[in-house]
Amino acid sequence: MPRGSTPSQAAAALKAGSLIILPTETVYGLGANADDATAVARLFEAKGRPRFNPLISHVADAGAAMRIGYFDRHAEALVVPFRQGVCDLARAGLDTVALRVPAHETAQAILGAFGRPVVAPSANQSGRPSPTTFQDAMEETGFAVAAAVDGGPCAVGLESTVVACIGPQPQLLRPGGLDRAAIEAVLGAPLAEAETDARRSPGRLARHYAPASPLRLEADGARDGEIFLGFGPGPEAWNLSPSRDLREAAANLFALLRAADRTHPAGIAVAPIPHEGLGEAINDRLKRAAGFVG
Ligand code: TXA
Ligand code: MG
Repeated sequence: MPRGSTPSQAAAALKAGSLIILPTETVYGLGANADDATAVARLFEAKGRPRFNPLISHVADAGAAMRIGYFDRHAEALVVPFRQGVCDLARAGLDTVALRVPAHETAQAILGAFGRPVVAPSANQSGRPSPTTFQDAMEETGFAVAAAVDGGPCAVGLESTVVACIGPQPQLLRPGGLDRAAIEAVLGAPLAEAETDARRSPGRLARHYAPASPLRLEADGARDGEIFLGFGPGPEAWNLSPSRDLREAAANLFALLRAADRTHPAGIAVAPIPHEGLGEAINDRLKRAAGFVG
């Protein structure tokens, strides 16, 4: 298994049709050339991802994004009508494409060296929590890659916010690392709620982001054999954020779920998390990890 590749080795691997592990500010991604159907097929295979679930294409800047999709006045980091340059398989055959410009310096270096769009779903096996450290990414999909770049722990820790800009009003498809208020401030308009229509948001599968241990939410402490993930000051050994900081809780969420899971507890109980700001995305991931969302 390759460890600690450089951005230029990662770009060379992408050119050769291989998969890579790359850091982003949200979570680690499993990357492939977005316009190479064979590489993209290998990526779906390595993740065990259903073929109907489209991938996000990563590009270095807004100019590159605008060559691939049609942007209306709302579009920023978003699902837009497709123009060219990302293969059908990567879009799961849809006439739309999800585009994202990652802020992470190392991701930017890889995209700059490759010079073309890179699809990068989170580097976990389909249905499992997203990796937020290099080690966790290697454990999930390291077996499948020709290069893997270590960019340290992910600062945000939750996947990107996905917004659809394909109708008259922008729609929140996936709450994520940028909270609703931040997106609405840029749009200058409120976000419409996502339709429940699975075709519009094919990635919103019922059980997702899930550890192997059963999850119990809104808990006030551990029951027999459980690990309790606290939120706020308290005696707990495991705590999402002792100071009740939602940013810190987001950054810790997947790493703590994984660490708890490794001890094979009877279950993982999680303290209530407030719903405002980043709490919307944290609660969304927790509900899906517990298997509660249809
Ligand atoms: O933060 C992130 O976005 C990370 C890092 C690695 O960049 N990537 C990521 O990718 O979370 P993934 O594949 O795990 O999640 C992509 C989400 C899925 O829910 C997928 O269904 C949705 O974006 N998506 C992609 N293309 C779409 C499209 N054309 N229409 C609607 N949803 C789409
Ligand atoms: Mg994912």
